[in-house]
Amino acid sequence: MVEKMYRDTWAEINLDAIAYNITQIKEKLPQDSNVIAVVKANAYGHGIVPVAKKALESGASGLAVAILEEALTLREAAITAPILVLGFVPAKYASVAAEHNITLTFFQLDWIKEVGKQDLINPLKLHLKVDTGMGRIGIRSDEEMVSILQEIAKNKNIHLSGIFTHFATADAEDLSFYREQTERFEAFLHVFKKFWKKPVMIHIGNSAAAIRFPEKMYNCVRFGISMYGLYPSQEVREEHAIQLKQAFSLHSRLVHVKKIAKGESVSYGQTYIAKNDEWIGTIPIGYGDGWNRKLQGMNVLVNGKRMPIIGRICMDQTMIKLDGYYDVGTKVTLIGSEGNDCIEMDEIARYLDTITYEIPCMINERIPRVYVDSN
Ligand SMILES: Cc1ncc(COP(=O)(O)O)c(C=O)c1O
Repeated sequence: MVEKMYRDTWAEINLDAIAYNITQIKEKLPQDSNVIAVVKANAYGHGIVPVAKKALESGASGLAVAILEEALTLREAAITAPILVLGFVPAKYASVAAEHNITLTFFQLDWIKEVGKQDLINPLKLHLKVDTGMGRIGIRSDEEMVSILQEIAKNKNIHLSGIFTHFATADAEDLSFYREQTERFEAFLHVFKKFWKKPVMIHIGNSAAAIRFPEKMYNCVRFGISMYGLYPSQEVREEHAIQLKQAFSLHSRLVHVKKIAKGESVSYGQTYIAKNDEWIGTIPIGYGDGWNRKLQGMNVLVNGKRMPIIGRICMDQTMIKLDGYYDVGTKVTLIGSEGNDCIEMDEIARYLDTITYEIPCMINERIPRVYVDSN
């Protein structure tokens, strides 16, 4: 992508909000608890390098990503903090991780055996993933754990530095399965501690668990969605256990304003026919930017007032119905605050029948991220 912005459509990422949200969770957690900032998927669409740097400056002690490529991007940006890859990395790439001091997640005996045969430049750091009910990746039995620990003990090039699990329902109203998972993890940990005497990082909490049960989070949490100022679910939001500031907002400007006559249509398929003489504005954003076509009918903010998206959203342009004449160049806010109103990420997620996590991720790289940082 070229560096200069020639089109007036941008996402504003408020790094002060990232810092604020980390401070908020740290205040809830016990003093000796660490925060791992989860910056996978381009920091949930916010921009991996600026967010990672801000998170570390603001008190996070490490970073977590989903894939090795993301960890390498952070190292290329001269970030030296601990980085954990949460997803599966093929054993043949263990040497890449070891070379760059990147910690990998593992959960298979064959994987450990294959890594054990390799000549690694540095010892490889690993965290053991336990599947307590998420059903995604992780060991599921004591036998698996014991055979894996025995294999690790044989190998000087492998440094086991953590054990963790992930919750499926920590954000839900019904916490019975969450409790089942915590009990299963405790049972695993009991066996683990019998076989492994060296200290390790122990982490179970995502945002929801960290916010709801801060005192039960062992020595570390993996803080993702709420670092970005978003609540993992409506339930967690309504509990008011934490105050967050949304870091992501999305803006554009009117590039064309016109009056159409009653009966005239707007956009592909003529799905919108004006009921009266109406003012119509065009903004340069479309589904080619990840601005989902199903957002037809959703509101945007112009001068702090809600105006609906009308007609089909095109690949690069979207039309809105204005309540009167506005100058070309007037700012339009698609996500975030403007005047006294705010289009929250939650509202867009509900409209699209999805979760807030997906919204900043769906706004693709054609939309430049502009960073606001008062420090
Ligand atoms: C393994 C793992 N840990 C932590 C997180 C962060 O969760 P959250 O964004 O809900 O805080 C995720 C996110 O999907 C994850 O997959």
